[in-house]
Amino acid sequence: MVVDCSRGVSFVNQAAETLTGLSARKLLTRASGDLFRANRWLLDMIDNSLGPNESTSRSENKFFKPRGKSVPVSALVSPLRDQDGRVAGSVLLLRDRTLRQAMEEDLRRSDRLALLGKLAAALAHEIKNPLGGIKGAAQLIRAEVTHDPSLLENTDIMIREVDRVNQLLDQLLDLARPTGLQVEPLNVHELLEQVLGLEVHTAAAAQVRIQRFFDPSLPMILGDRSRLIQVFLNLMENALQAEPDCVTVTTRIETDFSLRTGHSGATKFVSVDFRDDGTGIDEDDLPDIFSPFFTRKRRGTGLGLAICDRTVKEHGGRLGVESQLGEGSVFKVTLPAQQD
Ligand SMILES: Nc1ncnc2c1ncn2[C@@H]1O[C@H](COP(=O)(O)OP(=O)(O)OP(=O)(O)O)[C@@H](O)[C@H]1O
Ligand SMILES: [Mg+2]
Repeated sequence: MVVDCSRGVSFVNQAAETLTGLSARKLLTRASGDLFRANRWLLDMIDNSLGPNESTSRSENKFFKPRGKSVPVSALVSPLRDQDGRVAGSVLLLRDRTLRQAMEEDLRRSDRLALLGKLAAALAHEIKNPLGGIKGAAQLIRAEVTHDPSLLENTDIMIREVDRVNQLLDQLLDLARPTGLQVEPLNVHELLEQVLGLEVHTAAAAQVRIQRFFDPSLPMILGDRSRLIQVFLNLMENALQAEPDCVTVTTRIETDFSLRTGHSGATKFVSVDFRDDGTGIDEDDLPDIFSPFFTRKRRGTGLGLAICDRTVKEHGGRLGVESQLGEGSVFKVTLPAQQD
């Protein structure tokens, strides 16, 4: 934009119309003082360039649009001189930094995550050794105190809790190190039956009904048995922990066409839905649930979904979620089928 010596706007380009949200016609008929009333910092910069110092200034600031919305901008304001070198106005160069800021934030976040992952892995490794010692010592004590039931119980607690921490550390290490897949042809229903078998008591104790809708014509997939069982188990446990009346597991051949353009080159996909009618997920939480360490549970690690997401991606598939607070959630695993 160009502002003349009487502070009137004398030139604007198309980008200025976009940034201010006003048409060129409107911009050119208004005084800068009126136009930038909400942006005192910009008026100061204009004054600076037109004033006795005639100086150029730069700043990064928020530009408030007429309707109160703001855009992060970088600004450069310098005096505009005529042929004789006299100041004839002021040139305003504003750059929208929205996209750049978002990219910088993304970068910072992934840097933080990568660093955190490395730190956590190193720490996990260091903690596992002394834990082994503690467990061994507890087992020795346990062998000595067989005559005292209360001591027995306490040593059992020690051993059980050490095992729990160990498991947690293994999960952490899993997430931090890229692991290869041991791929073989798999029957998804067989895996699901294994997982549901493991959860049947938990479900019964919480009076949760488990429903299966299995498509009998489901093709085989190529995948890593134990890693996929871990995925299904995590999703099932999350569903059961959401205090539902019912959890429904559905399998089907995926017909969503957009998936076929995926990088795996696969043309046929199977999907497994875990649907619960439990608490549902807050809209604000949804973008975070796949991040490591995000948890809303008192004893959660927040690693379950992060591991699921990574494993499914490693299989060339996709993990999706739909959820409504108070209504329940659906987690949908889509995996490439074995090609025939
Ligand atoms: N089916 C679900 N219903 C409601 N909330 C869910 C569901 N699945 C996940 N969540 C939310 O997402 C969060 C992250 O889940 P994730 O499985 O990664 O960790 P966690 O379950 O809290 O801990 P962990 O899996 O290590 O025990 C949960 O704490 C919960 O708030
Ligand atoms: Mg979980």
